Amino acid sequence: ETERTLAIIKPDGVTGNHTNSVKETILNHGFRIKEESFIQLDEDRVKCFYAEHSSRSFFRSLVEYMTSGPVLIMVLEKGNAVADWRALIGPTDPLKAKVTHPHSVRAICGLNLQKNCVHGSDSPQSASREISFFFKTTSSGHASKHD
Ligand code: CMP
Repeated sequence: ETERTLAIIKPDGVTGNHTNSVKETILNHGFRIKEESFIQLDEDRVKCFYAEHSSRSFFRSLVEYMTSGPVLIMVLEKGNAVADWRALIGPTDPLKAKVTHPHSVRAICGLNLQKNCVHGSDSPQSASREISFFFKTTSSGHASKHD
């Protein structure tokens, strides 16, 4: 069954010139890129997006990092999109990913536990929240970017 997930190429991925290769990987694995937008996040938006991490020690630093430069947000679609995109990006920590999942996006493009190049929704529930956080969905199911 067709499913959608939210992918983000984070600031280190964009500045490290990984955008094109990550998009190529996405398309080669059968995902359709339904929406994409190159945006600069501000502090309020990041705090809201990552609200579930607000009590963590790394939160302040995460907000600084995610506002440090532009990001590419994308809505990906295919069967089992949420789990398949998570599998493709690999474990959160690129240094561990290099050992356990050497062909994953984070192993190849990520720098460290924080600068891990990409984001993927962790469940279908998170995916719908995250997609509607960035894109407004019309009754036809078509998403367009919020102002
Ligand atoms: P992601 O899983 O996409 O969303 C939460 C982000 O917080 C995560 O990617 C990393 O960028 C960052 N993060 C998670 N755990 C840590 C940690 N222990 N230290 C620093 N950053 C982290």
